[in-house]
Amino acid sequence: MSVQSAARRLTAPDIRARKGGEPIVSLTSYHAHTARLIDPHVDFMLVGDSLGMVMHGMETTVPVTVEMMILQGQAVMRGSSRALVVVDLPFGSYEGSPQQAFATASRVLKETGAGAIKLEGGRRMAETVRFLADRGVPVMGHVGLTPQAINTLGSFKALGRDEASAALILDDARSIADAGAFAIVLEAISEPLARQITAEVAPPTIGIGGSSACDGQILVLEDMLGLSDRVPRFVKKFAEIGPAIGAAVEAYASEVRARSFPAAEHVYAPKKV
Ligand code: KIV
Repeated sequence: MSVQSAARRLTAPDIRARKGGEPIVSLTSYHAHTARLIDPHVDFMLVGDSLGMVMHGMETTVPVTVEMMILQGQAVMRGSSRALVVVDLPFGSYEGSPQQAFATASRVLKETGAGAIKLEGGRRMAETVRFLADRGVPVMGHVGLTPQAINTLGSFKALGRDEASAALILDDARSIADAGAFAIVLEAISEPLARQITAEVAPPTIGIGGSSACDGQILVLEDMLGLSDRVPRFVKKFAEIGPAIGAAVEAYASEVRARSFPAAEHVYAPKKV
């Protein structure tokens, strides 16, 4: 008889139920090994389309494809067993119509096994969020700075810092909350606005540059580990892994050049007969 020991993965409804409760912890992950490391500590991990910039050195997230998201989503699912995995729908794969969004989202969920998708946009995406939520696709929204819109925004600067812009973002958040988003990422917006949205909308808000007023927080893993060259103001570096990697590689290179690596303990002796 087999023993059932696998812990149940957290689900979108579990995250939705955390509104106003213990803060929700999340990070991005694009690989099986980082997923394995963060799985015990986070409530959900996001396979963000930031992977285009972080992993592939792209200037923006615009060129990221559905195939890239599926490949990394599969890796993150293999590396994790406890946290909810959310996969970003990339630019151009969902904005055309609710039907296009459903086709992409259902493919992503089927081919990765992830528990939810994320898409960017407020009022303009509300009909799509409702269409997906009504058809069994848990949708995480994303308002404020939406990096996929870089070509219309013109820069990655913070938004909602004046009354007119704050009113638009509040309306964006309300629209997708009413449409059925189970959580909403608030990126790079002013603190009072994040506080107001968090107080007004039913789903939990997840801040990235939204202040501690939000119901939870997310950061790009490589940014908070000190692996990224330039990071926005809202990033705190919890470690400086970049210089540690440089030092390890320098030590390796000098030992290889001095023939002191590999040493006797790294070498296979012939079998004794
Ligand atoms: O792509 C991403 O990593 C994101 C987070 C910054 C929220 O959308």
